Amino acid sequence: MQGIFITATDTEVGKTVITGAIAAALKARGLNIGVVKPLASGGFTDNNGQLVAEDATFLMKAAGINEDKRALVNTVCLQLALTPAVAAVQAGITIDMPEVISNCRLAGNEFDRVIIEGVGGITAPLWEDYLVADMIVELNLPAIIVARPNLGTINHTVLTAEYAKQRGIKVAGIIINKWDEQNAGVLEHSNIAYIERLTKLPILGKFPASETISVPDARVEGLAELAEKYIDIDRLIKAMEVSV
Ligand SMILES: Nc1ncnc2c1ncn2[C@@H]1O[C@H](COP(=O)(O)OP(=O)(O)OP(=O)(O)O)[C@@H](O)[C@H]1O
Ligand SMILES: [Mg+2]
Repeated sequence: MQGIFITATDTEVGKTVITGAIAAALKARGLNIGVVKPLASGGFTDNNGQLVAEDATFLMKAAGINEDKRALVNTVCLQLALTPAVAAVQAGITIDMPEVISNCRLAGNEFDRVIIEGVGGITAPLWEDYLVADMIVELNLPAIIVARPNLGTINHTVLTAEYAKQRGIKVAGIIINKWDEQNAGVLEHSNIAYIERLTKLPILGKFPASETISVPDARVEGLAELAEKYIDIDRLIKAMEVSV
């Protein structure tokens, strides 16, 4: 399968927004693009009494994928907002990782390229000792690290990149989310410079905060345009082509 795996330096950094933005841009370019949020926690009960993940709802809307494909997009949805390995145990649920992986591969067959959103950061436990990094290795996909622009981001980003390297994961680059070009000062600019220098990875985008975008409200307006303007989509497409 061809695609890319989106991880981050932490939870709530912007994996869903960046995954949706890349998907929307690729769709606007005419590609048959799939999105996958294989495991999600913090799900809510919809009007039909079904537990649903807001990340999956946002991603499907961004990529123009119909509701009838929800099970392919999101295999496991847990209610508690805990790492999946813990949320599952609390709910008395066993996570079947081979099934999760095989659903990702099904999505890989159905779409020309897939963008897979992880959970939390790269070492978040998915089931027992199986981590997000194990999933990236098993799927054999290149990864993108989404990082914050503010204080603390050098440490988080360098540690994430080093861990990925140690696990043999090819990181295609880093995308900074909620970048504010107008107000960026010495802190933000030096963060970027140090991240590039220490990780030797390319910064593939500096994505702004936009009032038209919201994951909880499933607002995707302007995603494709912002992605084209602020993310190096050509380079991302190339990175996806090398995956097997
Ligand atoms: N560029 C942006 N513009 C506007 N809102 C944003 C942007 N990036 C993130 N947000 C908001 O910040 C919050 C966290 O972003 P997001 O859900 O993408 O993080 P995440 O890394 O996917 O989190 P999780 O680990 O829970 O999956 C969301 O409410 C989202 O709407
Ligand atoms: Mg998310």
